[in-house]
Amino acid sequence: MSTDLQTHLGAFGRRLERRRPPLCPELELWLLGDSVDLESGCEELADGEAPPFWAFCWGSGQALARYILDHPERVRGRHVVDLGTGSGIVALAAARAGASEVIALDLDPQSRCAARRNAELNGLELQTAFRTPARWDLMLAADVLYETGLRNWVFGEARQRGPILLADPLRTGTPRVDLPELAHIPSLTFPDVDSPQKNVVLYEIPRRSR
Ligand SMILES: C[S@@+](CC[C@H](N)C(=O)[O-])C[C@H]1O[C@@H](n2cnc3c(N)ncnc32)[C@H](O)[C@@H]1O
Repeated sequence: MSTDLQTHLGAFGRRLERRRPPLCPELELWLLGDSVDLESGCEELADGEAPPFWAFCWGSGQALARYILDHPERVRGRHVVDLGTGSGIVALAAARAGASEVIALDLDPQSRCAARRNAELNGLELQTAFRTPARWDLMLAADVLYETGLRNWVFGEARQRGPILLADPLRTGTPRVDLPELAHIPSLTFPDVDSPQKNVVLYEIPRRSR
């Protein structure tokens, strides 16, 4: 049992379970059980306290992780950063698929802790960070377009340093990405707390040629 993570679940409950996300059964994660009550959990959060995004495996994370596991050539031998790693599912898939270095990046220290615990659970290696490293070959980003500041940063970073492989769950109110689709993958959040959309679209944002 990952006790250092349990203490940060607050109103979301105190039990994490070892679970295999349906799209990526080859990976195991510490996640909440199916009985989690998202609404009450959010209502009881203190002002400014972030929900435990890392205790769910979001539909986008699963879809991008599946794509990487099925296309290991996209990451093999590369220095990879997973922006907004949450549970670390995408970073773990990159490590499993043969990336030479994987950095799981998240603002939330509990997410970074979860990514490390989940790496241990799967016998995989990754580093964690709260800011972007100076050097990377490929950025992975699942479900990070819901906030305008971060969205603008992602597209700016892609133009200057890309490429970025992006997974978007097509949330209502989020502007659509104006790029050709790389893949369209049916996927739900696990445990399923918020999946009004049943599909995730993957895009590649290329580095702008100079
Ligand atoms: C919806 S979750 C997605 C998690 C994971 N990528 C997945 O798909 O399962 C978004 C994550 O982005 C992180 N995040 C939000 N803003 C961020 C920022 N500016 N820099 C790094 N991480 C950020 C949150 O803490 C959260 O873990």
